[in-house]
Amino acid sequence: MTHQSPTLSEAQKRELHETALRIVSPGKGILAADESVGSMAKRLAQVGVENTEENRRQYRQILFSADDRINGCIGGVIFFHETLYQHSDNSVPFVKMIRERGIMVGIKVDKGVVPLAGTCGETTTQGQTTKYYGLLLISLTSPQRNAYYKTNYHSIVNLTGLDGLSERCAQYKKDGAVFAKCRCVLKISDANPSQLAIAENANVLARYSSICQQHGIVPIIEPEILPDGDHDLKRSQYITEKVLTAVYKAMSDHHVYLEGTLLKPNMVTAGHSCSTKYSPEEVAMATVTALRRTVPPAVTGVAFLSGGQSEEEASVHLNAINNCPLAKPWILTFSFGRALQASALRAWRGHKENEKAATEQFIKRAEANSLACQGKYTGGDNYGESGQRSYGSCHAY
Ligand code: 13P
Repeated sequence: MTHQSPTLSEAQKRELHETALRIVSPGKGILAADESVGSMAKRLAQVGVENTEENRRQYRQILFSADDRINGCIGGVIFFHETLYQHSDNSVPFVKMIRERGIMVGIKVDKGVVPLAGTCGETTTQGQTTKYYGLLLISLTSPQRNAYYKTNYHSIVNLTGLDGLSERCAQYKKDGAVFAKCRCVLKISDANPSQLAIAENANVLARYSSICQQHGIVPIIEPEILPDGDHDLKRSQYITEKVLTAVYKAMSDHHVYLEGTLLKPNMVTAGHSCSTKYSPEEVAMATVTALRRTVPPAVTGVAFLSGGQSEEEASVHLNAINNCPLAKPWILTFSFGRALQASALRAWRGHKENEKAATEQFIKRAEANSLACQGKYTGGDNYGESGQRSYGSCHAY
């Protein structure tokens, strides 16, 4: 019988917990700037900019060169692999620019979604398969396998980080990353999500978390339930509860140290095509209720994705969540991609002379969400203007 977090020392646990706490310290959330090259193609196309490495660098520089006003608003930035090794116009590494202002550097480690055979269009996430582990142990009988597992726990854990997740984490840590993100995707329809998709994606997130923690990297656990469909708020809440229950069962099975993790869930909102409109307070109540039923209080923070909501909607919902009159044992903040960047991208449009204005737009959203994660946001004038939504069906990141 093993014991909780068998591979982590007390010092490692302390480091993980402290890093998690710093990322979501009061008034702070996360900038998700980890769009893959493919996702950036879609973002840049919206503003008529070609998807070249240089344009992606220029765009990220607009965000990363924001002045000190963002220091109290942003606790962490999630990078994409390419961005982690890019520099500013003055040859300063982006990682250095971010770290020097006390902001934590994170890295997207998943390699996107792939079809899950035997389901109705569902997916699992690549980046941490057990390919080599399987090959290694396939020839052993079950008792032999158990004996091997008992005596080789550490090497198996390393081997199962396969298709290089363990090695990549070690390298990213050396290169300045202290947290990571892995995104799994679930869909709601009459038949979905299936039990298989729920279980498989929960397991992927738990394996990833365990590997990250062994390298001193705080895992952000992102089981995103897409807003595609016409389901109502109740169904969204029900599915969110089922998914999160499976996620935390898997975390327990994999001995993940919860205090050294952050959860990145969807807010509980009705499907995008649902005819019923719900108030921010209803969204907040559904979201906090779902979390209270499923997420252990030991989890250090919950940083919501924006999921294609407009910038205002996301801020207003986050504010309402923080004002929801239920006990909330976790820090509840943001880890927004589109809801922090949409106006900045529109202001930029690839023109040098717009760079300053674009940076200002990003700062404006960072400040709004800093207030919202403390329940102090009083803006929201454009709330409900769906024209501003950056929703895309079956959104891939
Ligand atoms: P959105 O806030 O645009 O949904 O993205 C957050 C994210 O990181 C998705 O993985």
